[in-house]
Formats: sequence, structure tokens, C-alpha cells
Amino acid sequence: MKLYIETYGCQMNVADSEVVVSILAKSGYEVTNTHEDANLVLINTCSIRENAEQRVRGRLQLFASLKRKGHELLIGVIGCMAERLKEKLLEEEYLVDLVVGPDAYRDLPKLVATAESGQKAINVLLSREETYSDISPVRLDKNGVSAFVSIMRGCDNICAFCVVPFTRGRERSRDPKTIAIEIQKLIDSGYKEVTLLGQNVDKYDWNNGEMKFAQLLETVAQMSDTMRVRFATSYPQHMTDDVLHTMAKYENICKYIHLPVQSGSSKMLDAMKRGYTREWYLERISAIRSIVPEVSISSDFIAGFCSETEEDHKETMSLMKEVGFDYSYMFKYSERPNTYAHRKLTDDVSEEVKGRRLSEIIDVQTQLSLKSNQRDIGKVFEVLIEGVSKKSDENLFGRNTQNKVIVFPRKNYAIGDFVNVRVTSCTSATLKGELPE
Ligand code: 5AD
Ligand code: SF4
Repeated sequence: MKLYIETYGCQMNVADSEVVVSILAKSGYEVTNTHEDANLVLINTCSIRENAEQRVRGRLQLFASLKRKGHELLIGVIGCMAERLKEKLLEEEYLVDLVVGPDAYRDLPKLVATAESGQKAINVLLSREETYSDISPVRLDKNGVSAFVSIMRGCDNICAFCVVPFTRGRERSRDPKTIAIEIQKLIDSGYKEVTLLGQNVDKYDWNNGEMKFAQLLETVAQMSDTMRVRFATSYPQHMTDDVLHTMAKYENICKYIHLPVQSGSSKMLDAMKRGYTREWYLERISAIRSIVPEVSISSDFIAGFCSETEEDHKETMSLMKEVGFDYSYMFKYSERPNTYAHRKLTDDVSEEVKGRRLSEIIDVQTQLSLKSNQRDIGKVFEVLIEGVSKKSDENLFGRNTQNKVIVFPRKNYAIGDFVNVRVTSCTSATLKGELPE
């Protein structure tokens, strides 16, 4: 039996798909890379913005049309959209056979069997405990170099705009012993980098204080000094200095922090229920820079949240420049059903204004990224090689500790090698380098 799985959304979903493949292997399903020869197609979905859901609807139409042409195929929707829409998905997309939420994957063999017998199957129960702790994910990435390891699930932050607390349920941490077992397996099979994943890693807490995030990070860093350790995502209100000191102490913990701010206006941050102000965020940035001087910092921004004025928008751009982010992910606000913003606030910034503000912040970031990359010209970085450059197979690419992509001549190097590269030129998106003699 063949399973084709497509993954949308965050890194957490990528990690979940690997858990799903492991669970379904036990019912005799093996992964195929094309949907044409699949018996079961699963789409691991994202609900974060309307357009993420739209994309999934498009894919569902394609798979449904195959079914209409006579392919014997089961179609399943899993992940955040399954959790958000529940039974409605089965009604709206009548060729979907199964709907499974993020905490119900252990039930997949039973649900698939039900679907195989011709009935619709659904499980969207959320759990307070499930972390898939004991399940050994089947790695779907092809390079064998870098892997995601989930350390917690869910989110208790309830930001006004965000659907995640509804789709992924309550926050819970995974047993550190099983995290260590999973990472040891990765080390033993030659992986060179792990990224510890959680919606809000700073709130990792095993057994009421027995182990917090800084200790977990230290434990993982000590497992192998040649394995790089990354983590995502940090939250400004909860990120503590002891995590920063741990980063500074271990060479193999990558000097990169993704710290979403969303807006530069304290008034907007309050409306968003983020729990910190512009000044608080700037203080965290200076703590990061003084404890981990060579760090690179990226962020997320939402343009056009409820009641955002031109003044608020300008504060966002001034914060961007003040911090000098190395990279940012930027989005137009998209109202999500049932969130606080949907129930209590008005989505009153026009599509046109949202679009204009978004392109203005993108312009600011492009300039900042270019400046940040130009500062790297002439420097030598250790790069972990991840693959062959898409533009030319004469070149390889990899990342430095700051998470910047560097392209350089292939010579005799291989994927998974560490190599020192001197940066010779750049664009706002990539660094180009050469191998020093
Ligand atoms: N509209 C637009 N962007 C959103 N994000 C989360 N919810 C929304 C929404 N409703 C963005 C935030 C978050 C990132 C993962 O997605 O910037 O940090
Ligand atoms: Fe999308 Fe958020 Fe769900 Fe990740 S947790 S898949 S970003 S909605």
C-alpha cells in the first residue's frame, strides 16, 4: 500500500508528517513520491492565513478529480485545517475520506481501515498529554544532514490574531529522555544538525521545573560537539537570559534567533495581546546582542492588523531599522474565524492599504538584508553543506551558524561536510563565496 503525503505550513507540520509516516508504516503503508501511484493521499494542512487554506483546497480539487477519473484513492486531510473545520470538511469536500487533527495521529491505522471499508472517518480530539514521545519519526528529507525534533506541542499564548491555540490545543512538553533518544539516533545515522521545535520553546517545562528550555538546550548541545543545534520559535515575553548564556557557551549552538515581533507599535502589540511593548522587545534585542554578539536575528511582521494607523505602520518600519533584522517573514493580516480579533475587533484596514504597507515593510527588509549580507563580505564562515545549488551543479550551498545561505564552488566536497568559505559577494537573499586555499 502506498502513501503520498504533502505538507504545508510550519516546520512543526514537517515534523508531524514524519510521525504520521512512522505510524502508518505499521499498517503496511510505504511512502511514494508521486500521487499517481498512491492508494492514500494525505495533506498535512495549515490554517494560519486564508491563502494557506485556499492552496489546500486547490490540491484537494486535483486529487478529487483523479478519483472521479476512476483512480482507487483515499484522500485524507490532517493537521490544522482538519482541526479547524472538523465535520464541515467532509461536507464541503465530499470526496475527502478522512479528517484527522494534530493530536489524533495514533488513531490513523484505525481511521484508514474505516475509510478503506467505504465509510468516512474523523478524529479531531485534542489532547493535553499527546507528544508522540515514543514514536520514531521516519525522516522524509532527502539530504540526511538536518532534522527537526519536536520538543513540545500546542500553544497557550492566545494572541488575538492567531488560530494556532484552536488547531493545536494546549501547550505541553515532551519527555526529555525521549528527545535525547531521538537525537542520539540522528547522530548515529550521520545527521549534522537538529532543530528543536515548539510553538514557543521558551516555555518548555518538563515536570514543573525539573527541566526548562535552557537546560534542555544545554543537554542536547553536550550530546555531540560536532552536531549543530538550532531551535524555533522564541517568544519575546518568555525568552530568558539563561537561554542566551547557554547559546554563548556552546560553539555548536547556532548563533541565530527567530524572535517574532509582529509590530513596532506598543498600541498594536496591546491590541494583538502579545504581552510586551516595543521597549520590552528592544531591551530583549540588546540582551541578545550583548550576550551573543555574533548573532543574527530574524522576525515576523503582520501588516494591517485591526485599527492599525499610518503612525503604527511607521513605528513598525522604524523598529525594523532600529533593530536591523537580518531577515523577516512578512504577511498581510488575515482574519481567522473564532480568534479574539474575529470576535471582538474589526478588520478595518482595507486590502489595498494592507498590500501597500506590506510592500513597504518588504522594501525596508530587503535593504536591511542587503546591508547585513554586505557586512559579511570578506569574512570566513563554517558552512554545513546541504545540497547542490539549484542554478548550477558546479556549486554547492549550505548555511553558516547565522542561518545565512552561502553558495560556493563544489570542488570535492559532499553534502554533509563542514567547510570554511570566504564570502566574496552577495545579494539581499544569498551570500556567494570561495574556498580559501
Ligand atoms: N494573519 C497574518 N499573519 C499571521 N500570522 C499568524 N496569524 C496570522 C494572521 N491571522 C503570522 C505571524 C506569526 C507567523 C507564523 O504567521 O507573524 O508569527
Ligand atoms: Fe500553520 Fe500554525 Fe498549524 Fe503550523 S501550527 S501548520 S503555522 S496553523
